[in-house]
Amino acid sequence: MPKIRVAVIFGGRSGEHEVSLSSARSVMAALDPSKYEIVPIGITRQGTWIAGEGTLQALMDEDFSATRQAAMFADPSKQGLWSAPEVPAGSERTAEGHSLATTSQAERLETLSRVDVVFPVLHGTFGEDGTVQGLLELSGVPYVGGGVLCSALAMDKIAFKDVVKSHGIPIADYVWTSRRLWLADREAILDQVERQLGYPVFTKPANLGSSVGIQKCHDRNELRDGLDEAARFDRRVMAEWAVPAAREIEVSVLGNEEPSASVPGEVIPSREFYDYAAKYLDEGEQASKLIIPAKLEPAMQGLIQDLAVRAFKAIDGAGMARVDFLLSRETGNVYLNEINTIPGFTPISMYPKLWEASGVPYARLLDWLIDLALDRHQENERSERVFYPRGPSLAR
Ligand SMILES: Nc1ncnc2c1ncn2[C@@H]1O[C@H](COP(=O)(O)OP(=O)(O)O)[C@@H](O)[C@H]1O
Ligand SMILES: [Mg+2]
Repeated sequence: MPKIRVAVIFGGRSGEHEVSLSSARSVMAALDPSKYEIVPIGITRQGTWIAGEGTLQALMDEDFSATRQAAMFADPSKQGLWSAPEVPAGSERTAEGHSLATTSQAERLETLSRVDVVFPVLHGTFGEDGTVQGLLELSGVPYVGGGVLCSALAMDKIAFKDVVKSHGIPIADYVWTSRRLWLADREAILDQVERQLGYPVFTKPANLGSSVGIQKCHDRNELRDGLDEAARFDRRVMAEWAVPAAREIEVSVLGNEEPSASVPGEVIPSREFYDYAAKYLDEGEQASKLIIPAKLEPAMQGLIQDLAVRAFKAIDGAGMARVDFLLSRETGNVYLNEINTIPGFTPISMYPKLWEASGVPYARLLDWLIDLALDRHQENERSERVFYPRGPSLAR
């Protein structure tokens, strides 16, 4: 059996660049070398794709002297990793016979590696949000994890909440607005939030992660400040009703059309809520803690697992996702908070730890994810892409 060539993509242009590097290091170390050949692909903070010896180390040291600029084409006839072409003057025309490539450009193009499947280990913007997934769709290569729709939906807190709400999944009530409207009529929006939600509320940019731009607001001044802060990071912002005395419960989901849920785990944040410092800065005794499995009544555990699978299906999830809930200690009610389609993947990250606690060891989990990527690709390939209303001859 020839080995499966797995391109692992890491780094990227998001604030979670470093987290991606540690996730990717763990993934590459655990992929079974008897089954897989690894093709490392790095994306620098500025968005340049690189490949070659020591790509991961190059990104960690920010020294790219030994790496080559690489590219994947949005063109299924060029599946794989290529050396990045320089664009020569006067060759910018279409593929349909209108002269495109000059000979010299063709010579500079060189396949670096064939790729059977891509494992994007990119967190946040330009990686987990459907953008890289779009490129991979166009290039026709199978890839691990959610597709364009589910990645984009999971990244946008407003659209995500609208979709899961329409599936009857409980979420915390919210008010959203655009930055323009917010700046144009602050007081009216503050009034609306007070009327509809009361205090405290959480203010958030629609698209981001790592708790960046998120604040807990207890009065009108804090709310004004919170929405201003959120508006620094996105064109759309929201205020969300705060779940009282919230426990943070997370579930790992694995599968395509018939996904399974792991045992739930709990995060005990080191701060008032799970903010940036509680996620990444607090260390040692001060660090946030993971409790696996979470201490829950069996009925609550079952409900949360069921909601996790329903939410995954509602957004057309594929491969993997970590589904995060807020469970009120005061009322016992549970609310879906968000879905991460490329969750942290270090051996101490919640996603793989929950699977380990559910009987799926880390390396086996990677096997599953790659199988699921190939399976989803095959299933997609079965769809007819061209529709001929009355036979192919009419289409010409
Ligand atoms: N409605 C809410 N009620 C209570 N706590 C919340 C609420 N929304 C967010 N939080 C707190 O803020 C943290 C970050 O919010 P979240 O929406 O998960 O953003 P991110 O995508 O940055 O992780 C949560 O883990 C939780 O601690
Ligand atoms: Mg979160």
